Amino acid sequence: EKGGHEYFMLKEIEEQPDALANTLRGHFADGRVLLDEQRISEQDLRDVDKVFVVACGSAYHSGLVAKYAIEHWCRLPVEVELASEFRYRDPVLDRDTLVVAVSQSGETADTLEAIRHARAQKARVLAVCNTNGAQIPRESDAVLYTHAGPEIGVASTKAFLAQIAANYLVGLALAQARGTKYPDEVAREFEELEAIPDAVRRVLSTVAQMRALARQLADAKAVLFLGRHVGYPVALEGALKLKELAYMHAEGFAAGELKHGPIALIEEGLPVVVVMPSPKGRAVLHAKLLSNISEIQARGARTIVLAEEGDETVRPFADDLIELPTVSTLLQPLVATVPLQVFSAEIARSRGYDVDKPRNLAKSVTVE
Ligand code: M6R
Repeated sequence: EKGGHEYFMLKEIEEQPDALANTLRGHFADGRVLLDEQRISEQDLRDVDKVFVVACGSAYHSGLVAKYAIEHWCRLPVEVELASEFRYRDPVLDRDTLVVAVSQSGETADTLEAIRHARAQKARVLAVCNTNGAQIPRESDAVLYTHAGPEIGVASTKAFLAQIAANYLVGLALAQARGTKYPDEVAREFEELEAIPDAVRRVLSTVAQMRALARQLADAKAVLFLGRHVGYPVALEGALKLKELAYMHAEGFAAGELKHGPIALIEEGLPVVVVMPSPKGRAVLHAKLLSNISEIQARGARTIVLAEEGDETVRPFADDLIELPTVSTLLQPLVATVPLQVFSAEIARSRGYDVDKPRNLAKSVTVE
């Protein structure tokens, strides 16, 4: 059942193109983005004046990615909250607040309590969930299923990418209802999303380089991950994977924060993974990251740079260059995350750890 793979996680990494295609399927017809069967009406969507995304772990990172897209497409304030913090605070919500609860299992205790907290204040709750009929969708006003298929590996891979895609569908549906995007713009965004499974397939065909690099770095004491904009949550996710699978000290940083502390960690030979944005997308972001990489390289770090194919400007600063297919800025997390998953799994394997069942972790966290 592992399809010839040593671990479920490796199989699930390869299933990502299908997970994405299945999650998008059926959600665009007659020029409109469609959510699943909903108890949140088009009018309710139009009335939304604030969005909260509540989730834990990787699902929380998928929400951080979505924030950039939903703010940009919908001109709505979006807050992304760890469910375990949100539920104990006194967040300001009302019936025009949309709370998006993202959970692969649909059973995470903190996320479940967070939606109860939100519903008690009359907010509308939309679950993004991978498990049919789980408790979180049952207690939500509406549900959008990610069709990633069952995920066995404790480390989330295909469910995480599917969550990003589903969150983007929510963003497009909001933009469409609110009229902040013209129908042809919504259609174009959806088409770009539909092209992502092929882009991920291309990434998968090139991961041997990442595997080899992982084997070289298996004894590193720590690894840092840097990104900006949507690359920042990708850095957080890369670090989380490495912690949970390889039991290695790993931190993700917003590259702009380097000078505010983390740069003090840089020392000779420290591996630093950098997620570069496209040079064609947000040129200013690209330039800022180039200068960040040159700073850390000057201090002796080993720079592992994920950059768009053909981005020659980055070459002098990259000790190792991992090329990514060209996709639009907002969709880059869907391709950039994949080499980082492979990286962590391969380090864990080299260290002799169980990739599917990391120590101390459970697949679904039903205790608080
Ligand atoms: O089932 P959920 O999506 O609610 O789970 C949330 C987190 O426990 C989960 O994403 C966890 O962080 C993963 N092990 C990360 O790989």
